[in-house]
Amino acid sequence: MGLRLAAALLFCVLSLPSLGQVPAAPEPVTWKTGREAAAIERRVEALLKRMTLEEKVGQLHLSGRGEGFNAARIREGRMGAVMNFVVPQEIAEVQKAARESRLKIPLIIGLDAVHGFSTYFPLPLGQASSWNPELIEEAAYWTGREARAAGINWTFAPMVDISRDPRWGRALEGAGEDPYLGSVVAAARTLGYQRGGVATTVKHLAGYGASEAGRDYNSVWIPTSQLFDIYLPPFKAAFDAGAMTTMAAFNALNGMPTTADRNLLTGLLRGRWRFKGLTVSDFGSISELKQHGIAGDDAEAARKALLAGIDMDMMGDAYDKHLADEVKAGRVPLEAVDEAVRRVLRVKFHLGLFERPDVDVAAAPKLMQTEEARQVARRAAREGIILLKNANETLPIKPTVKSVAVIGAMGVPEAERVWTDPAGLGRRIGQSLPEALKERLPADVDVTYEPAFTRNCGTEFADKDAAIRAAAASDLIIAMLGEDCEFLGEASSRVNLGLPGVQQELLEALVATGKPVVLVLATGRPLVLTWADSHVAAIVQTFHGGTEGRAAIAEMLSGQANPSGRVPMSFPRSVGQIPVYYNHLPTGRPQTRVGERYESIYMDERNEPLYPFGFGLSYSRFTYANPRVEREAVPLNGTAKVSVDVSNAGPRDGQEVVQLYIHQPVASRSRPVRELKGFKKLLLKAGETATVRFDVPANQLGMHDDAGRYIIEPGQIDIYLGGSSLAESVTKITLIER
Ligand code: NOJ
Repeated sequence: MGLRLAAALLFCVLSLPSLGQVPAAPEPVTWKTGREAAAIERRVEALLKRMTLEEKVGQLHLSGRGEGFNAARIREGRMGAVMNFVVPQEIAEVQKAARESRLKIPLIIGLDAVHGFSTYFPLPLGQASSWNPELIEEAAYWTGREARAAGINWTFAPMVDISRDPRWGRALEGAGEDPYLGSVVAAARTLGYQRGGVATTVKHLAGYGASEAGRDYNSVWIPTSQLFDIYLPPFKAAFDAGAMTTMAAFNALNGMPTTADRNLLTGLLRGRWRFKGLTVSDFGSISELKQHGIAGDDAEAARKALLAGIDMDMMGDAYDKHLADEVKAGRVPLEAVDEAVRRVLRVKFHLGLFERPDVDVAAAPKLMQTEEARQVARRAAREGIILLKNANETLPIKPTVKSVAVIGAMGVPEAERVWTDPAGLGRRIGQSLPEALKERLPADVDVTYEPAFTRNCGTEFADKDAAIRAAAASDLIIAMLGEDCEFLGEASSRVNLGLPGVQQELLEALVATGKPVVLVLATGRPLVLTWADSHVAAIVQTFHGGTEGRAAIAEMLSGQANPSGRVPMSFPRSVGQIPVYYNHLPTGRPQTRVGERYESIYMDERNEPLYPFGFGLSYSRFTYANPRVEREAVPLNGTAKVSVDVSNAGPRDGQEVVQLYIHQPVASRSRPVRELKGFKKLLLKAGETATVRFDVPANQLGMHDDAGRYIIEPGQIDIYLGGSSLAESVTKITLIER
C-alpha cells in the first residue's frame, strides 16, 4: 500500500464521526476558572463592544420552534437562543443561520429534557425515591448526553422546588418535601446533566412548589426564615454544583411576582450568592406581569423584568419588541442591558459553543438508547420503586401462584409519559408488564392481561366484565393503575387525590373477587391510598418509571429485585390534612393520646400521614442498634461523628436507606420535630451487620431568622437514626460555644 493511500485511509478513520459513528463523550460543562475564565471575560467584553443595541437585545430573546418561528431573525442577529428543537438536522440549520449572522454568535438550544431525551428515566420524583445520588447523577448524565448529541446544549432542569402539597401537579418534577434530600438531588442532577454536555437551569426561583391551595401558578406566601430553611437550599446546592442558569417562577412570592423581584434575582442571587450565570424568565412570564397587576403594558413589563434581573425573555416578545425603545427613551440604562448580554455571552463561552461543532447529524441517532443508558434507566426504575404495603408477604410472588392477571391499560404502554418526543431518533417503547412478568416468572405460571379501560387514564371502561372475569380466575391480581393523561404535570392540580376516573370502581370490584390484589401505581404524586391500604394485599408505588419502568416492576414482583425506594413526599390519609409533612414544628399542644380534645388534632382523622417521609418496605428486614456519638460535646465549628450498627435480619440481600434526623429541643425559635441531615444507601447481605458512620458538621444544624440570617445555637441536639422519618434509635450531642 502506498503511503498516500495509507494516509487517505487514516484520514477516513479519523474523520469517522462525520460518517455517523457514536459521538465521543462530550466535554463536561463547567464554569472555567482562573486564566480561562479571565480570557472569557475579555472575549465577552470585546464582543459586546462590537454589538449594536438591536443585536444586544437579540441575545436576550429566546424563541421556540413552531408557528411563528422565524429563522430569518437569527440571521439578523435578533435571536440569541431557541427552544423545543429536538431533530438534529433542524438544530444544525438554526445554528447555521446563527453562523450567517453578522457576529456569528452561536445559539443556545434549550429543551425541557426533564427525565430523559430518548431513553426515559423515572419522573424526577421517582428518581428521588431511589435515595441514590450516584444513580440520579447517571440518569441526568445520559439525558444530557443524548440531548447534547442531538445538538441541544441547555436543559430546563432540574426543577428543585420543594413541595409539601401533592395537589400541585408539578410535584413530580421535584424531589419531594425535604430540603436536605432536595439539595442532594439538585446537586446530583446538576452535575450529571452538565457532565453530559448541557447547561442546567435551576428552577423555579422561588417558592413555586408552595402555590397556595396547590393550584398551579397561584400566589405563594413564605416567611423569610422558612424560605431560607426549606425552599432555597436546593437552589444553593445546585449553584454550588456549578449550575449555569436559573429560571424565575411564574408565581408571586410574598406579593411580588418573582419575574420582577429585584431582591430575589439581584439581591440574593447576584449579591449574596454571587451567581454569574444567566437568568431566564418562564414561558411568557414577562408579559404576565400585566396580569399580575404590576405592569400596564409589555414595555413596562420588559423594563421591570430586566431591571429586576431577568436576562432572557422566554417565548415572549416583550424584550424583542420594547427593550431597545426603553433604552432609547432613557427608561432602561444601556448598562443594564449590557450586563444581561454579558451573562448570556458568558454562558455561551463557558459552554464552549464558539469552539465546538454544534451537532453531528449522522452520528446523533447512534447515541440514542444505548445499552449503557438503558441499564441506568433500569437501575433507576428499580431503585425508585417503593413497596408501601406487603401483607402476609404477598410479594415476591410465591411459587404457589400459578396464574396472574394483570389488569389495567397502564400495564401495556401505548405510549410512555415523556416530555419531548424525539421520535425521529428511534425512541423505543419499553416492555409491557405482562410481557416482562412472563419473562421472569416460572414457565408454568399463566399470565393474562385485561386493559379494563379504553386508555391509560382510566376515565372510561373498555370491558370491565372481562377484567373481573380474568381477575377472578387467577391466583393473584396485579392492578396497574394511577395517573396519566391530564391528571399529572404542569397545570394539573387536583383537589381529589384518589385514583382518577373509574379506577377506584375497578379496584373495589377486583378486591370483591376475594383474590389477593397487588396494586401497582404509576402516579405523579402521592395519592390518598387510605382505602387501598386497608383492602389490598400489597401496594407498589412508582412515579412512571420510564422506558425500563415495567421491566423493573416485574423484577421486583417476581423477586429478582428487592425493593429499596423510600417515600420522598408524605402520603396523606386525607386531602384535608394537606399540607402534611414530617419536618413540621411542634405545637404548644402536641398530640398525646388519640382522640384527646384540645390538642392539635382532627376530630375525624389522625394527624400522621399514611406513609411517612423516608418510609419504604423491603423483602429484607433491617434492625438498628448502638446509636452513638464519638464525642457528645461538639463545638459550633466542629463535626459530630455519629454511628449506628445496621443489620439485615431478613432472609435476602437487600438495600437499606439509613437516615439521620436531628431535633433541637430548646432554642430561641421553635425547631422542626425532625430534620433530615444525612442518609446512606447500602447493600447488606442476609445476616450481615455494618457500622454506618455519619459526619455531621455543626454548621449545618442551624436555622435562619426572620431577616434570613443563619444562626447556630448551642444546646442539645437529639439525633435519630433509622429507616424512615420515624427513626427510633436515639443518641445526642451538645453544641458548645468552644
Ligand atoms: C413552563 C414551565 O413552567 C417551565 O418549567 C418550562 O421549562 C417552560 N414552560 C418551557 O417549556
